[in-house]
Amino acid sequence: MTNGFDTLQLADRRAIVTGGASGIGKATAIAMAGLGADVVVTDIDEAGGAQVAEQVGGTFAMLDVGDPAAWDRVVATAGPFDIAFLNAGISTQQGLPPTDEIPILSLTDEAYRRIMSINVDGVVFGTRAVMPGMIERGSGDIVATASIAGLIPVGMDPVYGLTKHAVVGFVRSVAGTLDGDDAPDVCISAICPGFTDTNIIGEAARAMIGEIGLEIMRPERIADTVTRSLDERIQGAQWVVWPGAETAAYEWNPPVEFPAGDA
Ligand SMILES: NC(=O)c1ccc[n+]([C@@H]2O[C@H](COP(=O)([O-])OP(=O)(O)OC[C@H]3O[C@@H](n4cnc5c(N)ncnc54)[C@H](O)[C@@H]3O)[C@@H](O)[C@H]2O)c1
Repeated sequence: MTNGFDTLQLADRRAIVTGGASGIGKATAIAMAGLGADVVVTDIDEAGGAQVAEQVGGTFAMLDVGDPAAWDRVVATAGPFDIAFLNAGISTQQGLPPTDEIPILSLTDEAYRRIMSINVDGVVFGTRAVMPGMIERGSGDIVATASIAGLIPVGMDPVYGLTKHAVVGFVRSVAGTLDGDDAPDVCISAICPGFTDTNIIGEAARAMIGEIGLEIMRPERIADTVTRSLDERIQGAQWVVWPGAETAAYEWNPPVEFPAGDA
């Protein structure tokens, strides 16, 4: 048991993990399998994903999260899923050398379309694809990897911040449709980690983190939070994981009343 609490068991539950070949996805696939889940590891990195699948005693499926037809295929061949960890994501700065330029000025059309298709489309298409099976089976859990960048500004990669704010907004909005006595027992929440030691942290980010003296967290800490979110099942929560701080779930409700009446 890796999660520090004793109640959660995932035996008889089938989980899909996107971006499961490395980093947070890999650590979470390992944690879920450790709790008894049957894990379907998916990624566009076939070699890495297959290796993780073998390690966790699960199966690998090739899945580009931005491709809706690929989602249909994976649900038809490897689903239905009780748990979906919608985690695949990239930054626009990944693999680029550090620069003093204002980041938005060097954004190419291609880089913009690519990050939107993975970080945003991947979560939207994934939720749409897995939810019907969960409703049919009577329950399910969807956890999307957002970021602390979904809650606060990130000047070094504004489009990354855009995509992660989108994930938080999407999760909170879908959660609103799953509330109430008649709603299906499907819980959706978002994980919002700070800097974590994975391939996504490029040279520029590492230099900046070093300068401000911030700790880079281990992916296992994020995996622990994912399993904790599956245990606590807080609808629409944003789970903030930050170095040196206790992990906590936020349900941020602004002091705004939506007018009642016929809309
Ligand atoms: N590392 C951090 O500091 C940090 C902090 C907050 C949030 N996140 C988020 O965590 C998630 C996981 O990233 P990570 O940090 O583990 O990085 P990572 O690079 O180790 O893992 C990302 C995985 O996504 C896969 N991937 C890329 N494009 C894909 C596609 N089109 N379809 C399917 N899979 C694809 C990659 O092959 C890789 O295995 C991302 O959503 C990221 O934005 C990371």
